[in-house]
Amino acid sequence: MAVTLLGLGTMGTAIAQSWRAAGIKPTVWNRTRKSPEDADTAAAAVAANQLVVTCLLDDDSVTTVLDDVDLTGKDLVNLTTSTPEQSRDRATWATERGARFLDGGIMAVPPMIGTPAAFVFYSGSPAVVDDHRDVLAVPARIHYVGEDPGHAALYDVALLSGMYGMLAGVTHAFALLRAEDIDPTTFAPLLVDWITTTTGSAHDLAHRLTTGDYTTNVTSNLGMQAAGIPTFVDTAKSQGVDPRLLMPYFDLMAQRAAAGKSQEDTAGLVDDLR
Ligand SMILES: NC(=O)c1ccc[n+]([C@@H]2O[C@H](COP(=O)([O-])OP(=O)(O)OC[C@H]3O[C@@H](n4cnc5c(N)ncnc54)[C@H](OP(=O)(O)O)[C@@H]3O)[C@@H](O)[C@H]2O)c1
Repeated sequence: MAVTLLGLGTMGTAIAQSWRAAGIKPTVWNRTRKSPEDADTAAAAVAANQLVVTCLLDDDSVTTVLDDVDLTGKDLVNLTTSTPEQSRDRATWATERGARFLDGGIMAVPPMIGTPAAFVFYSGSPAVVDDHRDVLAVPARIHYVGEDPGHAALYDVALLSGMYGMLAGVTHAFALLRAEDIDPTTFAPLLVDWITTTTGSAHDLAHRLTTGDYTTNVTSNLGMQAAGIPTFVDTAKSQGVDPRLLMPYFDLMAQRAAAGKSQEDTAGLVDDLR
């Protein structure tokens, strides 16, 4: 139950607090010293424990902090947000330095750390997960997605991408109402309920991507949806709203419908993006 944590930003501080609350006293280091008890150097903090967790700003800062530090025999768990490619390179980099490597993508904001809602995508060494499960599971649930060290970052970015698409729609929806005497707070529950209901369609989409069947039992085909695009564009214009957040998705739908796929559902748009 011993752990070193490098990085005491907003997220690192929340993680350290969750360990302390669970009776684990982490050895901590931060570029800007936070407390007299902090380790003097990153090297000293790393030397203190086998398990070393990094929660730094970005991939470059991990290199800056650890490039000259002896990692032989260490288990490096990198919770710093990165791209899949950076995570794979980091795994090679860590292995060359004699460390086992596990990458993590944190699916939480700092106030969620230590609550049941928080989880971390992990990928890389399964042995690191097994050997340190009790410590790693304290700040957030462990969701291990395989040995490819890039997959945790990929899952992380994919979930956040889904979130940003949803937030683009939410932004547009509120903008439509802005010129009217409609209270956003009475509209919000309607919007939340509608989005919650409609996100279930991702299961159907996943099933279609797996089977390659984009046409059986389609209830809202691309042709019908493409025909509705002017309704959205004209409504936006009449409300004085720039439709730029919706147009890329509409353009993709219209193109596929025009290419003879109007009887399909939207799953084929995934292929067209590639
Ligand atoms: N906050 C969130 O909502 C959230 C959610 C999910 C994932 N994350 C990820 O968690 C990681 C940390 O985020 P955070 O919110 O804690 O960020 P933050 O509050 O900005 O803290 C950044 C940390 O990185 C350190 N740092 C920055 N550049 C450095 C460098 N060149 N050399 C050494 N240390 C350096 C900072 O040290 P100083 O204190 O000395 O500046 C600080 O400890 C990021 O990768 C972020 O994407 C954050």
